[in-house]
Amino acid sequence: MIITIASFKGGVGKSTTSLHLSHYLSTRRKSDKVVLVDGDPNRSALSWFERSKNCRFSIVDMADEIGDPDHIVIDTPARTNPGELMSLVTGSDLLILPTNISPFSLEATIETLANMPELPLERYRILLTLVPARGQAREAQAREALTAAEIPTLKSRIQSRVVYADAELEGVTVDLMSGKRGKSAWADYKTLGQEIIKGWG
Ligand SMILES: Nc1ncnc2c1ncn2[C@@H]1O[C@H](COP(=O)(O)OP(=O)(O)OP(=O)(O)O)[C@@H](O)[C@H]1O
Ligand SMILES: [Mg+2]
Repeated sequence: MIITIASFKGGVGKSTTSLHLSHYLSTRRKSDKVVLVDGDPNRSALSWFERSKNCRFSIVDMADEIGDPDHIVIDTPARTNPGELMSLVTGSDLLILPTNISPFSLEATIETLANMPELPLERYRILLTLVPARGQAREAQAREALTAAEIPTLKSRIQSRVVYADAELEGVTVDLMSGKRGKSAWADYKTLGQEIIKGWG
């Protein structure tokens, strides 16, 4: 399966999602080979990998040889030009567009996607990220707006949690962070991974 992670806005959790999804796919079935392609010029995934102690997947540069893994996860640079969406979609089994639930980002995303009815609906999904801990009502509003615009959205969401920054510093995925906060954060990505495997695996 080829999964591409892109967004129209920077800092919405693309690299974090790429890393945790790669980690999920490579731990779900130990024999599966997973490659994360780091297309982020900030090199966040690569610098994380260099510090990492529990990485079961390989991280390569856009220009590197990928081989023939079971799953490829592609992290893309900060902002995707809407004009590039079609080629990203056609080159992937699933294109994930992480978006936060702030009205401005959401409106911009909806407007861009509503103007692209040619995008194949079965091949892309919005992922709500950085959802505040007490943001259920706002998340529900965001989902309503997306549904009204007929924009396909994953059921899973990624909550905003401080543990991601701590995990990043330690060079580990959140499941390795001690205590409940690491487990809860990992549960978000596990649920996302399961939803993806069920729909596209
Ligand atoms: N669910 C989350 N909760 C809290 N912080 C998060 C979450 N996901 C990511 N972050 C933090 O937000 C910042 C941006 O995340 P990330 O680098 O994954 O975004 P990005 O979309 O790849 O950014 P860029 O567009 O610059 O490549 C990082 O410091 C990361 O630790
Ligand atoms: Mg990034």
